This record gives sequence, C-alpha cells and structure tokens, in this order.
Amino acid sequence: MAKSFQVPRGTQDIMAPDIYAWQQAEDIIRQMCQLYGYTEARTPMFEDTEVFATANDSSDMVTKEMYTFEDNGHRSLTLRPEGTKGIIRAFVEHKLYGNPGLLPVKLFYLGPMFRYERPQKGRYRQFNQFGIEAIGVKNPQLDVEAITLGYSICRVLGIKNLKIKLNSLGNEASRNAYRQALKEHFKPYLSELCEDCQRRYELNPLRILDCKVDAQHPSFNSVPDIQDYLDEESKAYFEKVKEGLDLLHIPYVIDPKLVRGLDYYTDTVFEAVPVEDNGQQSTVFGGGRYDGLVDYFGGGQLSGVGFGMGMERMIQLAQEQGGEFMDHREADAYVIGLGDVSSHALAVAIALRSSGYVTDLDFQNRGLKAQFKCSERVNAKVIVIIGEDEVKANQVTVKDVAAKTQSTIALKDLIPTIDNIFEHAAEHDDEKAEHHCDCDHDHN
Ligand code: HAM
Repeated sequence: MAKSFQVPRGTQDIMAPDIYAWQQAEDIIRQMCQLYGYTEARTPMFEDTEVFATANDSSDMVTKEMYTFEDNGHRSLTLRPEGTKGIIRAFVEHKLYGNPGLLPVKLFYLGPMFRYERPQKGRYRQFNQFGIEAIGVKNPQLDVEAITLGYSICRVLGIKNLKIKLNSLGNEASRNAYRQALKEHFKPYLSELCEDCQRRYELNPLRILDCKVDAQHPSFNSVPDIQDYLDEESKAYFEKVKEGLDLLHIPYVIDPKLVRGLDYYTDTVFEAVPVEDNGQQSTVFGGGRYDGLVDYFGGGQLSGVGFGMGMERMIQLAQEQGGEFMDHREADAYVIGLGDVSSHALAVAIALRSSGYVTDLDFQNRGLKAQFKCSERVNAKVIVIIGEDEVKANQVTVKDVAAKTQSTIALKDLIPTIDNIFEHAAEHDDEKAEHHCDCDHDHN
C-alpha cells in the first residue's frame, strides 16, 4: 500500500486559490520597491553557519531555532533564519561598499526563511519573508523611508488598521549605560527569572525585555525607560526619525520596551502591528538600524537599516481587513472543439496565447454544454468554436460573450476579430468609468 505523506510540521503548501493573493502581493511589493529605488537580491537559502551564529549572539533565533546541518563535505551550514545577514555578507563579498558615490545600496529580497519554532497561527518553521536593506549611509530619513515603504505596501494591499511601534536603542554608549541600568534593576529578582533570562542577564540584559516567559513578572512593570539613557547624539537622531514620520503622517507609538528579538540593532527599532494588537504573532513587519553588521563581515564602519515582513501574516491580515484578492483563475478566451478536432483546437488556443490572450480549452472531449460551463467558470470574454465543418472551411466561430453576438469568420481573421472585441470592451469600460466619475462628482 502506498505510504501517505503530509507536509512537514510548521510548513504549508501554498496553492490556488491562496496563491493568487500571494502573486498579487508579490507584484505590488516588486512595484513599490522599484518606486522606492530598491533592487532585488537573491542570496542562497543556506549559508555558512557562522554567517548567522555571530559571536556572543544571545537571540533565541540563533541559540535555539536554527536548522543547522553538516553537508557531505563536512561544512556546517544553516538554512537562513532571516534575510539581513546573508544580504550583508553579499554586500561585503561583492565589495558594494567600494564606491561611496553609490551608497546607500538599497536591496530587497523575497523568499523562504527557516526557524525551528513552535508552530501556531502566524508562526511557521518555513515562512516567507519580504525584506529590504539600505546599506552604507546613516541618515534618519532612510529609517523613515524604510518604515514608510513597509507601511505603504500594507496599505496598498488593504491593511488599513496598522500602527508602528517605535523605539530607539541609541548608540553604543547609550546602550551600555542602559544595559548597566537593566542589570541593576533585575539584580534583586534574578533568581525568580527563567533560566534563559539568567543567561541573558550576563550576555545581553536587553534580551530580558523580549522574554515571553517572564513578561508578567512584577519587575517588568518598573523597568528603567531606555529614553532616559539616550545620549544627546542618540536623542537627536531619534528626534529626526519622529519628525520624518510626523511629516508623512505615519501613525506610530513610542514603545520603550521594544528591543526586537535579534541582537544587531542600534538606534531605531520598529514593529508594525494591527491597531487592535492581539499579542505575539501579530507583528506584520519589524526591523531597525544596525551599525555593526557590515563591520562584522569585514566591510568597514558602515551602517544599515531595513525590515522583514512575514508574507503569511501580511496576507492573512490583508484578507481579514477586506483586501481584495483574486480567488479564481480568469481567462480571456475559451476554445471549444466539437468532434475530432482536438489538434486544431489546440493550435487555435496557442495562436491566441501567442497574441497575449489567456486561453483555456478542454482536454477531456467533453460535450458542447460541458465546455460552455468550463468557459463560464473562467469567465471567458470570448468563446471560439471550432468543429469539423469549420476545420474543412478554414473558419472558426467567435462568440462575444458580453455583447451576446456570434459570427463565423475566416481563421486568418481570428486575431484581428478578437483584438476588436477587446478594444471595444475597453472603450466601453472607459465610458462606464467616466460616467461613474461624473455621478460621483454630481453627488459631491
Ligand atoms: P524578525 O522580526 O525576526 O526580523 O522577522 C520579521 C518578520 O518576519 C516578523 O515580523 C514576522 O512577520 C515574520 N516572521 C518571523 N518569524 C516568523 C515565523 N516563524 N513564522 C511566520 N512569520 C515569521 C528579521 O528577520 C530581521 N532580519 C528584519 C530586519 C531586516 N531588520 C533589519 N533589516
């Protein structure tokens, strides 16, 4: 008996009708990235483990969630848990820092990431991330631009109800002062905190603020506010970020406990969540600035900023908030073959496709009625009927579905006839739209 298989835990198959929303979202993302000057970069799905497991990294992602394996050449490789580090590795490897006149280098990426997490709604072991990185220039308006791009993409896709949580972790001096303050604050409670937090206390006390286990511990209610530890330089930088967001009317709230789950952030950090934030898995996109990563990979003291957007979460939220996505396939034309004409029907379909018309046809030798049903299912605007008599006479019958007209024409006239039908339909749509606009105008 055949063995039955299922997708591995925490992964999913994305197929019709869901795939239409994905394709639409990806199209919008590519268009918007182009508008903002970001070009696509495709880096490998696995890297040397050390690309991700940077020294002293205390994040859960690196310490607990990586898919690390040894290949047949005994190299330690890791399936990418995120996009940023691979992109910075590539930025340095290709010496994109070499021409200061071309900075910042603005890249975007779209693809699967892998984390060994406990699967639940909005959290998968293989998930898809869209992300951007603007590398090589430290300017608060690049942070603003990044946030605005993420926010605008969500808006265009139908997410109306989104706010940005914003914080600054400051420069190194500010972070060191804050880490010290956190240590003093948590010291009396250390034995009550979870094992991870006890480790975090030594390695990077900022991580304690991100702990899901201890979040309800009373000591969390009175943690020192990072804003009080920002030095003048960090404060001025953060002010500029806020000023830029204000000017663009991007809704944000300052969240002094926002530290993000990854270790490399400096200065600005942000997360986009639904206004009615319902908890852990609701962050649609998150990111921030990182001053030290390029240097870690050997590219010198260059800063970067970016975000990662979970495609599953973004599409789910867009659907919940009324974003409109296609839910079935549509075709321009449907070719109906009657009798022993299947090769001619296919030839006609392929001629239509060559002229740019999405065309379907029957491959099951169905009867006329059943083929008409199929044409309705894909909402075909034109039906081309070809029977044995038509083949002999080098003719086809063309039916304009909307106009409810039908004519038998010479095969050589097929494409111009179809072009005509679609041109007329487009003109008709324009007129309808104009009329609709006039009406709107009258009502106002
Ligand atoms: P992150 O916050 O780890 O940041 O991930 C970004 C987004 O990816 C999250 O907000 C969420 O939407 C999605 N995501 C993360 N883990 C999962 C999961 N297990 N299942 C489904 N979706 C998930 C980063 O990855 C940084 N590289 C972002 C960045 C870019 N920072 C600067 N540049």
